[in-house]
Amino acid sequence: MPHADSALVPDDIKTKREFYEHVEMGIVALIEGQTYWVSNLANASALLYHSFLGCSLYGTTGDGEPVVNWSGFYIHPPENVTTDSEAPLLLGPFNGRPACQVINPRKGRGVCADAFVDAKTVVVPDVHEYPGHIACDGLTNSEIVVPLRNKKGTVVGVLDLDSTVKGTFDEDDRAGLERIAQLLAI
Ligand code: SME
Repeated sequence: MPHADSALVPDDIKTKREFYEHVEMGIVALIEGQTYWVSNLANASALLYHSFLGCSLYGTTGDGEPVVNWSGFYIHPPENVTTDSEAPLLLGPFNGRPACQVINPRKGRGVCADAFVDAKTVVVPDVHEYPGHIACDGLTNSEIVVPLRNKKGTVVGVLDLDSTVKGTFDEDDRAGLERIAQLLAI
């Protein structure tokens, strides 16, 4: 199967749970045999972005804007191995519009920073109500950020998804994306 086809979402997917099972299979296939983190996170961000776009549960808004408008990673790159959890998180592979490049991982410095520091997924139904939210794209209205752990369980970055629609992400997204973050760590 051509690599690009892994981002196709079958029409018979009707629930978020089915959607994430499908995406998970695509990610497993893409990362198989590849250990370079940039390649894997690049394909994962592309797969997520295009799968959300192609799934009727998310798709596009009335004016043609993707609902999920950004999918990507902020990380402590493994080649800069740091024991300093306060070292800046750097923009990693992503799909969507250009975004801020550095995140200061201190509590209160945005959604990514909070998810990283607390090692906990943060679901934000309305970014305009979130203290410290960093607005990379004025069209973003909701967001979910999931911590990424390495094999030792240390949080080394986050997976970030933004949406142009308020309240896009719920408990099913949290469960599905946490599972995907786990796959990527392995
Ligand atoms: N909104 C994030 C910053 C990253 S962008 O959404 C791509 C935050 O508050 O940390």
